[in-house]
Amino acid sequence: MSKNEEVINYTIQPHGGELINRVVEGEERERLIKEASSYKSITLNPWGISDLELIGIGGFSPLTGFMNKADYTKVVEDTHLENGLVWSIPITLPVSEEEANQLEIGDDIALYGEDGELYGTLKLEEKYTYDKEKEAKLVYGTTEEQHPGVKKVYEKGNVYLAGPIQLINRPKHDEFSDYHLDPSETRQLFHDLGWKTVVGFQTRNPVHRAHEYIQKSALEIVDGLLLNPLVGETKSDDIPADVRMESYQAILKNYFPENRARLVIYPAAMRYAGPREAILHATVRKNYGCTHFIVGRDHAGVGDYYGTYEAQEFITQFEDELDIQILKFEHAFYCEACGNMATAKTCPHDASQHLHLSGTKVREKLRNGESLPTQFSRPEVAEVLIRGLREK
Ligand code: ADX
Repeated sequence: MSKNEEVINYTIQPHGGELINRVVEGEERERLIKEASSYKSITLNPWGISDLELIGIGGFSPLTGFMNKADYTKVVEDTHLENGLVWSIPITLPVSEEEANQLEIGDDIALYGEDGELYGTLKLEEKYTYDKEKEAKLVYGTTEEQHPGVKKVYEKGNVYLAGPIQLINRPKHDEFSDYHLDPSETRQLFHDLGWKTVVGFQTRNPVHRAHEYIQKSALEIVDGLLLNPLVGETKSDDIPADVRMESYQAILKNYFPENRARLVIYPAAMRYAGPREAILHATVRKNYGCTHFIVGRDHAGVGDYYGTYEAQEFITQFEDELDIQILKFEHAFYCEACGNMATAKTCPHDASQHLHLSGTKVREKLRNGESLPTQFSRPEVAEVLIRGLREK
């Protein structure tokens, strides 16, 4: 095994066995930029650009491009790719019918962002229509437009473009540059830190005491924590990523040993697809080099669309194939009688003693200008959130 392979496979093999890298660099990149100026072009929204980036950097390994109809159909209907690997969420490139009519199979297409930047290219291998209600029902479990993920499906163009991509320019993430690592770099980091077991933690909320409790419970059995907050598109009432990032820095600085936790951004868009998204989240963290992944209460849920443990039950069916260990945690709360965080597994007191914590509750309190009690949130985190939201 070469040194590089040794580092890549140090903790856990990427999904499908190979860490994909579609980033073009150096002279090849210069050449492609020149060539792309004569290609037909389309503009991707921020969601599309974040998918492009994740394919390019290997976060979505083994995908090398946007899904073709065979993979798409198998993913939607059967939670697998055509090659038999588990995959739970379609990664697709939608365009309008008018746009699709301008494009021919075999075309190289330049992919621009809404900011006018050239981000990559696509070799068009297939274009196909799809059934939006079916995608909504099978992936999100509902056809209701109020569901933020389903709403996005209904708003998308009617044709999907498929084919391999190349990533020419990276979305900047300038404000998070200290925390912007690719899967190959997190794998190197874990190697350098000597962490052989690493637990990944997905979040789209500021870290509250229940998060900290389950992260630290996991840290009792693994070498390190990858705090990996999603910083791509979220729904408008979620706390903005820059404010959240400051809150994560505050909690790591004050409440975690320096050599046991690292903060790295996950540049994806949030789908709110509950059980299906829990599988995607675990798969991607495996590609980042995590050996373990936390799925707690209503993971990636929204409103009342999914049951409290639906994501845990669903992912359990695929655990052997996924090959990353899923750490499932019960709904954690603060118990006044115990004087600490607990779950139904560890606390004998009745519900009147329990203070329930969730991202929704934290957001509600902040919006109403209420303070966050220490049972809810560390004071350093509360301070960052209150200041951050006041400034917005
Ligand atoms: S998510 O949409 O990114 O899943 P959130 O940031 O709220 O939302 O949750 C991050 C992780 O913590 C998820 O695995 C979620 O299930 C878990 N979690 C959140 N709140 C609790 C809680 N009170 N008890 C147990 N797990 C929780």
